Amino acid sequence: MLNLVLFGPPGSGKGTQSEKLIAHYGFKHLSTGDLLRSEISRQTPLGIEAKSFMDKGQLVPDEVVIGMISSALDNNPNAKGFLFDGFPRTEAQAEALDKLLRLKQAEINLVLSLIVKEEELVKRLLNRGKSSGRSDDTNEGVVRARIAEYHKKTAAVADYYRKFGKVKEVNGEGSVETIFNSLCAEIEKIIYIGQ
Ligand code: AP5
Repeated sequence: MLNLVLFGPPGSGKGTQSEKLIAHYGFKHLSTGDLLRSEISRQTPLGIEAKSFMDKGQLVPDEVVIGMISSALDNNPNAKGFLFDGFPRTEAQAEALDKLLRLKQAEINLVLSLIVKEEELVKRLLNRGKSSGRSDDTNEGVVRARIAEYHKKTAAVADYYRKFGKVKEVNGEGSVETIFNSLCAEIEKIIYIGQ
């Protein structure tokens, strides 16, 4: 079982590259952003609570997203590997994920960290906001708050995994295809070592 984290700030291309990676390798895609937006569109109590944080560009409380990931892991007992997108976003989430995977005799094998300059992130997100219907993409203040939240709480997650030598940085600027090829090259190294 190969488990990957696709890591990076808002707008770095995690969702875009996840789609291509799951099509290529058959991972089960777990995006906490997508799971939360699904709760919001169904107007569940969890969704209503989460929306109040997301609309301000703030992280949703750890216990909410850890609970969602725990259920998703239990609901996919036969997955041949997971691609985590937008999770973990705090050290507490990273520690909780390690514990959940340990119960399945599994671990995070690789963290692929997309590197993109801040002005490019803002440009991408505001551009998507023109058509996506995502309320957190339309206001520059909220977009910048999301990026600030990333630096304050999420960047440290890479340091957590770096201690275990699991982080590979990949240039997240350029064509989608070139970035995809760079990500695949890192994954192939791990698959090769595992054989
Ligand atoms: P989430 O849905 O995870 O959003 P995000 O991290 O802000 O990421 P985005 O989806 O905006 O960007 P991305 O990196 O996936 O890039 P994408 O491929 O979409 O989270 C939303 C909110 O939910 C959070 O703010 C938080 O409140 C909450 N949340 C979620 N997970 C949580 C957690 N674990 N804990 C607590 N709270 C949580 O691309 C962005 C745009 O750029 C697209 O338009 C795309 O077409 C374009 N693009 C992609 N690649 C390129 C390229 N190479 N060149 C040019 N444009 C590109």
